[in-house]
Amino acid sequence: MVSSSRPAADTRPPRRLIVGITGATGVIYGVRLLQLLRDMPGVETHLMISDAGVLNLHQELEMRRKQVEALAHVVHNVRDIGAAIASGSFQSDGMIIAPCSMKTLASVANGLSDNLITRAADVVLKERRRLVLMVRETPFNLAHLRNMTSVTEMGGVIFPPLPGFYHRPQSIAEMVDHTLGRVLDLFAIQHTLTPRWNGLKAD
Ligand SMILES: Cc1cc2nc3c(=O)[nH]c(=O)nc-3n(C[C@H](O)[C@H](O)[C@H](O)COP(=O)(O)O)c2cc1C
Repeated sequence: MVSSSRPAADTRPPRRLIVGITGATGVIYGVRLLQLLRDMPGVETHLMISDAGVLNLHQELEMRRKQVEALAHVVHNVRDIGAAIASGSFQSDGMIIAPCSMKTLASVANGLSDNLITRAADVVLKERRRLVLMVRETPFNLAHLRNMTSVTEMGGVIFPPLPGFYHRPQSIAEMVDHTLGRVLDLFAIQHTLTPRWNGLKAD
């Protein structure tokens, strides 16, 4: 019998999550997601930001591309269609597009793979991995709704960042974290962002 006082080395591969930030309003979701994942041991993030995403980072958060890229473990150029994540042989746990514009949704829904974000999403779908699109537009036209249906039929998760109010959020940050907690739940990533619902309190 072999005994050792040292814990076994953790040889598990990192959990790889691909993150896309596109030009819908709500880039705070992508930025906060990267902050959360950066602090989680054993998680490796792969980031791409579309050109419109860069515009919105500046408009909404006064952030530059480099500041956001610094939050990721690996950064890919959205035009680098030859990147590792463009291949199904690249092992990942899946992908989150946060936020996801209607343009990117349309591209994913129709398998266009016209940039690295939509190619990576296409790969995640074909490999039957988890794809979460934090789609944002209001109101929706029929094309938006049909594209959301198509992605759902292919196994993707349409996750519009719609805040709940039953936990009485006190700030935008709290609303964002609550929503992202539900996104992390979809990847079985442990967190304490979302107070778990224990039923209505009796008077
Ligand atoms: C300030 C701003 C806010 C925008 N908000 C949205 C939005 O909420 N949803 C959306 O689908 N497009 C929105 N757009 C338009 C997209 O940025 C545009 O369709 C772009 O081509 C999307 O490209 P991408 O998906 O490659 O990032 C917005 C554009 C700007 C400049």
